[in-house]
Amino acid sequence: MRALKDRVMSADEAATLVQDGMVVGMSGFTRAGDAKDMPVALAKRAREQPMKITLITGASLGHDSDKALTEAGLLARRLPFQVDATLRSAINRGEVMFVDQHLSETVEFLRAGQFGRLDVAVIEAVAISEDGSIVPSSSVGNSASFAILADKVIVEINLAQPVEFEGMHDIWIPGHRPHREPLPIVNVSDRVGRPTVKIPPEKIAAIIITDTPDSASTVQPADAETQAIANHLIEFFTHEVKRGRMPARLPAIQSGIGTIANAVLKGFLQSPFEHLTMYSEVLQDSTFELMDAGKMDFASGSSITVSRPMQQQVFQNLARYRDKLVLRPQEVSNHPEVIRRLGLIALNTALEADIYGNVNSTHVYGTHMMNGIGGSGDFARNASLAIFATKSVAKGGKVSSIVPMVPHVDHNEHDVDLIVTEQGLADLRTLAPRERVKLIVENCAHPAYRDLLRDYYRDALKYGGQTPHALERAYEMHIRLRDSGSMLPR
Ligand code: COA
Repeated sequence: MRALKDRVMSADEAATLVQDGMVVGMSGFTRAGDAKDMPVALAKRAREQPMKITLITGASLGHDSDKALTEAGLLARRLPFQVDATLRSAINRGEVMFVDQHLSETVEFLRAGQFGRLDVAVIEAVAISEDGSIVPSSSVGNSASFAILADKVIVEINLAQPVEFEGMHDIWIPGHRPHREPLPIVNVSDRVGRPTVKIPPEKIAAIIITDTPDSASTVQPADAETQAIANHLIEFFTHEVKRGRMPARLPAIQSGIGTIANAVLKGFLQSPFEHLTMYSEVLQDSTFELMDAGKMDFASGSSITVSRPMQQQVFQNLARYRDKLVLRPQEVSNHPEVIRRLGLIALNTALEADIYGNVNSTHVYGTHMMNGIGGSGDFARNASLAIFATKSVAKGGKVSSIVPMVPHVDHNEHDVDLIVTEQGLADLRTLAPRERVKLIVENCAHPAYRDLLRDYYRDALKYGGQTPHALERAYEMHIRLRDSGSMLPR
């Protein structure tokens, strides 16, 4: 748009629009579509002139941006998700206030004014169209609402992102409560919004031109354990279809971030299942492998986060995926209404689960933040089948992922349908807590920990109850880990 040409400036100049105490919304969702130059410029500015901001994103950022912003001392408050080791340490030292939030809810809080005004939005785009509306890049995340709600908008036009992204987005913004219209998605491929983010062009205060590709995904290849987890799940789905409890054409799948979820999805490559669809947040390598293999018909997400080779292949051939992909705001990709309507199969990862099916996905030892709940709660609560996968042990066997009582609960026993480890699977649906114990301990726990867990449960039964616990022993495995470095007795 010609009238906006005079707003092109360097990131350093644009960074002066951000002042101490401001609330800033920045694009970026699981390392995709994040602003590339502004975080660097903001970190530089904060090093020269100490200041603090509240930084809200879609989810995690790439390019070590959270590391740079943390080291510059810029972050007073950060939400709703992160995966950065430096930021994680600052959070766990109590230096950065981290608000760990369901990803579908952040913009609802913003709309309701819970964070005060949104002063500045920084949005990566592939273009600004003639009417001044913004064309996002490889993620939508919270970008659309940030741009709509912010007083000022800084747009980073990234020349390294393919312009073919134009037309792939579906931007739907909810109306006002309490008489909001239903979100009219009834099929994963439905388009219900606009292809661009419409804002008054006069709000665009700066335009930065950059040429930096997205960071590649850090997902590790499958190993024997993740392969075993995938095999258990494929066998389970096959069994469910055979018993008529699931249609042969499976419901749409949501798959969380990380190595385990990606490996499980890849497991479908060797499965009999066809015409798969996804209604998820992050589209990882496995999504495109399934599409290329003719196994997946359509994927709806909020971002594309793939390895470098997959990025080259997908981004250079975006046209090929055009009618098979849609990128939506995260409040739509994670919307409880749609998740419930579509009857999603939701697959997320746990750090640990307890013998009754409560899941901790975020707090190591119950205290130290790992990444955040992300969208896992949005999906688990509302899916038709909420699956949590984890390896049965961590840290070389010193930590059991099945414990008597989780010291932090992200997903409670009422939301968790299935727990799966490389050892096996526990289908908790329709079972009372006492019935779940046997399945979880005998099918999912590592053999090295089963006697400990059986012994705990025997003791717990003495105290009775719907969900028996021996409270003085409930955290004995965690306490042993803290004090001796292992959950196993010496
Ligand atoms: N106690 C302590 N540490 C544990 C643990 C436990 N019970 N279980 C796993 N870990 C550690 C692993 O050792 C590993 O540590 P490292 O990075 O030092 O090697 C780390 O946690 C990651 O575990 P990994 O087995 O590699 O799994 P992952 O990459 O799939 O990540 C989660 C697992 C739970 C951390 C990750 O999925 C997550 O953050 N989930 C919450 C958000 C979410 O589900 N989002 C989904 C929608 S986006």
